Amino acid sequence: MKTTLPIQRNVSLRAYNSFGLEAQAAAYLRVTEVVQLAKLGQDAELAKMPYLVLGGGSNIVFTRDFSGLVLHMATKGIAVVGEDADFTYVRAAAGEDWHAFVNWTLDRGLGGLENLSLIPGSVGASPVQNIGAYGAELSDCFYALTLFDFESGETKTMNKAECAFGYRDSIFKHAMRDRCVILDVTFALPKRWQANTTYADVSQELAARGIVSPTARDVSDAVTVIRKRKLPDPLVLGNAGSFFKNPVVPAAVKDALVKQYPQLVSYPEKDGSFKLAAGWLVDQSGWKGKTSGHAGVSETQALVLVNRGAASGQDVIALAQAIQKDVAARFGVALDIEPTVI
Ligand code: EPU
Repeated sequence: MKTTLPIQRNVSLRAYNSFGLEAQAAAYLRVTEVVQLAKLGQDAELAKMPYLVLGGGSNIVFTRDFSGLVLHMATKGIAVVGEDADFTYVRAAAGEDWHAFVNWTLDRGLGGLENLSLIPGSVGASPVQNIGAYGAELSDCFYALTLFDFESGETKTMNKAECAFGYRDSIFKHAMRDRCVILDVTFALPKRWQANTTYADVSQELAARGIVSPTARDVSDAVTVIRKRKLPDPLVLGNAGSFFKNPVVPAAVKDALVKQYPQLVSYPEKDGSFKLAAGWLVDQSGWKGKTSGHAGVSETQALVLVNRGAASGQDVIALAQAIQKDVAARFGVALDIEPTVI
């Protein structure tokens, strides 16, 4: 049976990824209602295609055309869905813009997400890489999510433990990859809110503004200013945020590196290992501001690769590989690519 879904054919994805990379999708559906997903299985052709779920497209690198069906989540809706003595529960549909959602909560006096202000992308994509910034991670305020499972054709709820969140990681990068689409996310925002100003950049920015007891909005404003200063705006210069994860190494490896490089930037992890600032490693290797073909490294944050105009996904990956090789040769540390590479 053919469906009545408004499927488009041979669609350019350039406008739908923040790197601005050219790639064609064989089929494309803008998902505005969840019921559309259940209809896919009723169409013989669509049912057997590979699917790619796209949110804001801010954490993806296209190196080729996609021969399947792109599901571009555009569902909307934000609501307070409950409260108890400790939390206010807020649910947002997958297609909501992340930063607009953070602002919605702050406008209603609900704190908890302010450190994650201005992160590009959509609500539905936010649990996939457990977005994090300035001392906070999505998992801190995450309560549950609903997803549509392509294999069973059913809708299912997952709690925090089931999502197996880690540093820029979750079950949606592993066992559930390509198997489902996240429909909405529910957050538990604390009633006894306290500002998280552990990250030096944030406390310094607040101090510079003469703010001693910041509100959630003050923290959001500080984070927004810091991000604008350091991270290139994808609308001006295509990018996908941090291109590499900060590598985690055993204490002995960190200690040996500090002997050789006393300026090395590292952060202790709960298990005794250390997270190294990949931006520092890339910067020290001389890559900041470099250009290779049409791809390059940001002038303000060495961890961010950028599209200087007409870069292809291959240009970006070639540059990333050259950086990985150089950092490994200098520091003996492997850098993992953070965005999804297609
Ligand atoms: N550094 C340099 N040179 C650079 C960049 C950084 O020396 O070019 C040094 C900084 O001086 C600092 C350290 O490296 O001492 C860390 O830099 P920064 O505070 O800018 O943060 P980051 O570790 O590079 C991470 C996240 C960002 C997040 C910031 C703030 C990852 C992969 N990246 O970057 O997340 O905004 O912390 O919390 O964990 C993203 O995931 O896309 C992203 C932008």
